Amino acid sequence: MSDFTSGFWSAFVAGITAVSILACILLLWISGKTKAITSHDNTTGHVWDGDLREMNNPLPRWWVGLFIITVLFAIAYLFLYPGMGSYKGSLGWSATGQFDKEVNQGNEQVAPLYAKFSGMSTEQLAKDPEAMGIGDRLFMNNCSQCHGSDARGSKGFPNLTDNDWNWGGTPDKIQETITHGRMGVMPPQAAAIGTPDDVRNLANYVLSLSGAPNDSTRAGLGKAKFVVCSACHGPDGKGNQALGAPNLTDNVWFLGPGVESHVVSMINNGHMGVMPAWESKFTPEQIKVLTAYVWGKGGGVAAPAAAPAPAAAAAPVAADSPSVTVDNGVVKFFFATGKADLATGADKALADVVAGVQAGKKAMISGFVDSSGNAAQNDELAKQRAFAVRDQLKALGVAEDKIELKKPENVDAGAGAQARRVEVSLV
Ligand code: HEC
Ligand code: HEC
Repeated sequence: MSDFTSGFWSAFVAGITAVSILACILLLWISGKTKAITSHDNTTGHVWDGDLREMNNPLPRWWVGLFIITVLFAIAYLFLYPGMGSYKGSLGWSATGQFDKEVNQGNEQVAPLYAKFSGMSTEQLAKDPEAMGIGDRLFMNNCSQCHGSDARGSKGFPNLTDNDWNWGGTPDKIQETITHGRMGVMPPQAAAIGTPDDVRNLANYVLSLSGAPNDSTRAGLGKAKFVVCSACHGPDGKGNQALGAPNLTDNVWFLGPGVESHVVSMINNGHMGVMPAWESKFTPEQIKVLTAYVWGKGGGVAAPAAAPAPAAAAAPVAADSPSVTVDNGVVKFFFATGKADLATGADKALADVVAGVQAGKKAMISGFVDSSGNAAQNDELAKQRAFAVRDQLKALGVAEDKIELKKPENVDAGAGAQARRVEVSLV
């Protein structure tokens, strides 16, 4: 495809090129024909410094020969290759064509390397050190400039390690994201909300969904307007992965911090985030390896019907459902691998704690993480689990200043379900 926006520029460039070649030929012809007026001793008559004279010899033949070759070369080149405006050249060569050819050659060379991965599932690939080594290199070269070399993202670019997916974290969904790209569109909504004050009220309500700092009076006033948002973010604000509308209740903010000004700006201005498509750059096998790499980093959400536990899970599958027990006045919540959902019956188990707080005590929430696997990921999950418990206490009427959160403690690797717990006690 030519880059000329109009036929004029194509003709202009072709014209200048042709004229300069003709001018070269003309110059050669004229200088071969005309004879300068020479004096009897074959000099031009110009004299410098008393005795330095300019001779009037013809151009050396080898030089004229080279000049002619140059002109012929230019004509042949312009016939074979693109150069005359938008004329494509008789060989049909193009820079993109050459690039594609080289990419294809490269892909053919690495095909045998990937052949053995093609029969493996995402779960298996995520455990294969060789595949993950390749995944790491592909990620560093192609994804890290946006998502960060640790895949933790930055403002505008989602964290891929936090088990919080805008578009879905199952192998299929991640593969779809990488293959076809994604475009998250949140249109400006201010007009549907009302005055700037209404927008601030709504923003505070949105912040209250995740327990981020907010003005509770404003939040109360803003609640009713959330219907506008629920079309995409869901009536409970938990998001919609079909639209890439983020969960607003998890206190994970990828487009800005969890503060009023960010939410106000989202409502007023909207945002459009674009994740490029990679299907033309990578072979399906490469995308498969990248998918497994990203899936493994993000805590590995199991495919809907897939039985195998995620790669990071050290615990037996039997223990992989949430539960809650009360042990000596201490309420212990156990969680499923990679999840922060509370077991049913949380309300009943917490009844004594709530009563204790009403009697003037404080509730202390402390988390424990298994030190196997990715430490940063474990910490993030432990935080979300502690928040889930805190939100439950708040829902039961416990004031925020009566709740203390303690930093998660590490327990030995391999402690499994025992390690994935949050304890609530009275202090
Ligand atoms: C048409 C669907 C749609 C509607 C309606 C909508 N949103 Fe969104 N919202 C999105 C999408 C999609 C994104 C992610 C944008 C992106 O990927 O760039 C988003 C992002 C956000 C974010 C940023 C989250 C983060 O992690 O930083 C906030 C806050 C937000 N929306 C609040 C609202 C509020 C409040 C309303 C109601 C006034 C609303 N949205 C209405 C689709 C919608
Ligand atoms: C030019 C910047 C850019 C590059 C390069 C890029 N991404 Fe993205 N990616 C984004 C943006 C922006 C989003 C968020 C789209 C949206 O607004 O929802 C995203 C979203 C994603 C998501 C979805 C996350 C979720 O929460 O569902 C995945 C998975 C992802 N990228 C993987 C990759 C991989 C793998 C690569 C390398 C092959 C890559 N990205 C390269 C910008 C980029």
